[in-house]
Amino acid sequence: MHLVILKTFQDVSHWAASYVMKRINDFHPTTDNPFVLGLPTGSTPLGMYQQLIKFHQEGLLSFKHVVTFNMDEYVNLPKLHAQSYHHFMWTNFFKHIDINPENVNILNGLSKDLNKECEKYEEKIKEYGGVELFIGGIGEHGHMAFNEAGSSLTSRTREKKLAHNTIQANSRFFDNIEDVPKSALTVGVGTIMDAKEVMLLITGAKKAYALYKTVEEGVSHMWTASALQLHPKGLIVVDEDATMELKVKTVKYFEGLDEHIEF
Ligand code: PGA
Repeated sequence: MHLVILKTFQDVSHWAASYVMKRINDFHPTTDNPFVLGLPTGSTPLGMYQQLIKFHQEGLLSFKHVVTFNMDEYVNLPKLHAQSYHHFMWTNFFKHIDINPENVNILNGLSKDLNKECEKYEEKIKEYGGVELFIGGIGEHGHMAFNEAGSSLTSRTREKKLAHNTIQANSRFFDNIEDVPKSALTVGVGTIMDAKEVMLLITGAKKAYALYKTVEEGVSHMWTASALQLHPKGLIVVDEDATMELKVKTVKYFEGLDEHIEF
C-alpha cells in the first residue's frame, strides 16, 4: 500500500485527477480495449471530478474510450432524485465530459429483482476484463463503498443495510433523517479488491481515525477499507488533516517515499 500525503483537499483533488489522467492516457484506450474505471460519489471526490473536467476542457483527456462502474446506489430512490447517485454523477461529472452514456454503469436501486441486478453488474465487470482502476472514499467509520462494518472482506455486489452512523452522516443531504434510504446496492469488498489498482481519497480531520484504522492497524471486517492492505496495488491519497491520528513515524516514512510516484 502506498500513502501519498499532501497539504490540502485541493492538492489531493489535483493529484488524484492527474493520476487518473496519466493512467488513462498511458493505457491508450480504444473502442475494443477501453479503460475500465470504478468511481465513487460523496463530497471527497468532487474536487477530483472538477479537475478532470478541466483537463478534458483543455483537450488533455478524453473519456471516449472509458467505461465506468460506480460503486453504489441507494435502493428505492428515483434516478432523478437530487440525492440519487445517478443524479450526482451526471450533474457533477458525466454531463461535462465526452463519455458515451452507454459506457456508464450505475447500479439500479429501483430494479424489481435487486439480486439479479447485482449479479448482472458483477458479470458485466467481468466481461470487460475487470476494473483497471477503482477509485473510492471511506466513511468516518471506515466503510469502503457501502461495505459497512462487519461486511465480509470477500463480499460481492449486493444489497446492504446502511449502518445508523452512515444514515446520520448522509442525512446532511436530505430534508429529514427519515428520508435517507435504509439500504443500498454496493459493490463488495471482493469486487473492489479484484481491480488491478485501487485508489482511495481520504481528506479532513473527521476521517483521521478511520485512516489510522485503515493504515496502522490490522486488516479487519470492522474497518473494511483496511482490506486494502492485502491489495497488490493499493494507493491512498490524503491531506494533512486526515493524518492527525497517524504516528509521526508513519507519516515521515510515507512522505519519504512520495518521490517514487511521478506523472
Ligand atoms: P464523503 O463520503 O466523501 O461525503 O465523506 C464518503 C463515504 O461515505 O464513503
